[in-house]
Amino acid sequence: MLQRHSIRRYKDQPVSADDVKTILEAALLAPSSKSARPWQFVVVEDKDMLTRLADCKQFGTKPVSTAAFAVVVTVDPAKSDVYVEDATVAAIFMHLQAADLGLGSCWIQVRGRFAADGESSETVVRELLDIPEEMAVECIVTFGYIDEQRRPVDPEKLLWEKVHIGRW
Ligand SMILES: Cc1cc2nc3c(=O)[nH]c(=O)nc-3n(C[C@H](O)[C@H](O)[C@H](O)COP(=O)(O)O)c2cc1C
Repeated sequence: MLQRHSIRRYKDQPVSADDVKTILEAALLAPSSKSARPWQFVVVEDKDMLTRLADCKQFGTKPVSTAAFAVVVTVDPAKSDVYVEDATVAAIFMHLQAADLGLGSCWIQVRGRFAADGESSETVVRELLDIPEEMAVECIVTFGYIDEQRRPVDPEKLLWEKVHIGRW
């Protein structure tokens, strides 16, 4: 956990099929409310498609175009009343699994965001990838070999004032 960071710069190097599979396994192993597993994932490796996905919103998508691959996290709101949480846990499981494999990854928010022309980011991603209408698009998680220096977190700087013991 101290080593984990959001990584936004990746080497121009493919990730092995075994590591891609391990990351998807992590998503499929994620807990979900009532074990509904309402999510589905779209793995994108095609560079042209990654570049097009990067246009799904105006800012904060730079990692998408340079990633070795990305996983689009979609979820069916009809299958869970807490679908955002279910999708979030699966995305974070992949992010943590990537860190454990020595890979970099970054969450790119899609739900509630908009493209430069005002179109919702969800619609842009859905149309590019033929995602069915009933599926909500939560986020894109980008992956690749790390090409930036990030210092480990200093445990002395954790915000312990946010923790209340016994009562607020
Ligand atoms: C819900 C959520 C949405 C995020 N959206 C984006 C995003 O759209 N683009 C991006 O570059 N990083 C995004 N991030 C990554 C955060 O910016 C990052 O986690 C934060 O700056 C802390 O840095 P760290 O992950 O290295 O600790 C998102 C993270 C979360 C949890």
